[in-house]
Amino acid sequence: MKLTVANLPIIAQGQSIFNGASPQAEKIKSLDYGFIAAASLVLLLVVGLTVFITIRYRFKKDDAEPKQTAGNRKLEILMVGIPLILVIVFFFWSLNTMSAVNPDRGRNKPDVIITGHQWWWQASYPGTTANTANEIHLPVGKKILMQLEAADVIHDWWVPSLGGKMDMIPGMHNYLWVTIDKPGIYEGACSEFCGQQHAWMRIRVIAQTPSDYEKWLKGNTSNAVTPADTLAKLGGALFMNASCGSCHNIKGTSANGMQGPDLTHFGSRQTMLTGMMDNTTENINKWLTDPQKVKPGVHMPRFIFGPDSVRALTAYLKQLK
Ligand code: CUA
Repeated sequence: MKLTVANLPIIAQGQSIFNGASPQAEKIKSLDYGFIAAASLVLLLVVGLTVFITIRYRFKKDDAEPKQTAGNRKLEILMVGIPLILVIVFFFWSLNTMSAVNPDRGRNKPDVIITGHQWWWQASYPGTTANTANEIHLPVGKKILMQLEAADVIHDWWVPSLGGKMDMIPGMHNYLWVTIDKPGIYEGACSEFCGQQHAWMRIRVIAQTPSDYEKWLKGNTSNAVTPADTLAKLGGALFMNASCGSCHNIKGTSANGMQGPDLTHFGSRQTMLTGMMDNTTENINKWLTDPQKVKPGVHMPRFIFGPDSVRALTAYLKQLK
């Protein structure tokens, strides 16, 4: 079966660190297993000894007062020594993992620049005019350098099956390496509270074979299609007149705003509102009718569109493939 975006398998749904799909995530996973094993052993030991001693040495009738002791050199060395060894081991193991997973970027240029906004993700691809939102296309099998930044407040990028998380801080550029093993859709979410819609700031990484990716990249740089049917044409005119274009960009039209997501190829996305719902006519209608009701707090103002205008706008957006 040929893999298209529509039938790509959803990998690692549930965003688990145990579903590593990149060498970076695998490396972090072994460190996680180490931590979990050590923590479990300590927990077992502490709880086990507590229970054992409580039962074995509980007060019995006619017991005399126990012998009073102060200090036990051997026990103290053991109780300080074991945690100290654990801390040292995990310190160096963590350092080693960090440098293996996220080595210095050196003179490498980023393959993709991802910007966190309240509350959506923007992806641009240096060297091209490709620009997309929320569904971030990347090629498999290549070591990709992501540049992460924020437009407003601090966000945090995390796709657990692809590797570590990284803060996105206004005015700063952070970097993350990722090599994706196989094609599929990888889910993540913003991991730092960034306001009212933080919980609906989902990530979808669409990993494609290099040739499919190149095809997508090239397609994404093209101008928006000109609407063919009457309703979509009407919607297009409405879009431009209602000043939607002062916040949204649609390549090849007068809409060139940068505040909101680029909508040039909106119709080709599977989801909308940062993973909140499927990209369907019904959902776009709902959204345009009252954005604040669907996603309270977003920066999309509430335009008073009548049902006919909403239908026309939806038809226009839907055909922007
Ligand atoms: Cu963006 Cu939380």
